[in-house]
Amino acid sequence: MTTLTKTETALDAFVARTRELFAAEPDLEKRWVELAPILTDFLADPSVQEASRAWPANEFTDRAENLLFYEDPDYGFVVNALKREVKAKPAVHPKYPNWRGIHDHAHIYTLYGVLVGHEMIERYRPVEGAERREDYVPIEQVGNFRVEPGSVDLVRPYEIHAERSLGEQTVAVIIRSEKSGDFLQGRYDAESGGYWEGYGPIQREVVMFPDAD
Ligand SMILES: [Fe+2]
Repeated sequence: MTTLTKTETALDAFVARTRELFAAEPDLEKRWVELAPILTDFLADPSVQEASRAWPANEFTDRAENLLFYEDPDYGFVVNALKREVKAKPAVHPKYPNWRGIHDHAHIYTLYGVLVGHEMIERYRPVEGAERREDYVPIEQVGNFRVEPGSVDLVRPYEIHAERSLGEQTVAVIIRSEKSGDFLQGRYDAESGGYWEGYGPIQREVVMFPDAD
């Protein structure tokens, strides 16, 4: 009889370190700040970059899509990726065809780690003191920066942002405090102040290291 031993992958190690941190740190803000360097180590592991070549590219319809590698049964955090091909078109919302992808992630924390390629990340905030309605939240840009492999960006609850492609293939590993897709997230039109809500990315289950078993 042959006994198969499962090799411990970089994902197993990342999940173990994350669970250890979450067990020790109940404060959400501190947890997510302290998780950033753990994600940086994960991104620097050559096996992750190597494995990402075989991951399928995400497909966008009227909604975005993420790859889903892991959901924690106790803490609820998930390990996602977003793989964009050079020619990938962003999601087009039938009702808002001119939307330029500015959004928030509702109540969850997100760490967005770049594994391959470069992107621009834009940050916005609601204009202070401005009138706000159910369908109207005027916003202003407060940041616009270039990210590269190894960069980790913390997106706090309700922080408004957009990721912009620079026309190259990109892969991001995204850690979220909760699986997205089943709850509404804010969408913003910077030009008109338009605000509406929509469901987050569809979750496509994929094995991160298919050769590890
Ligand atoms: Fe986002």
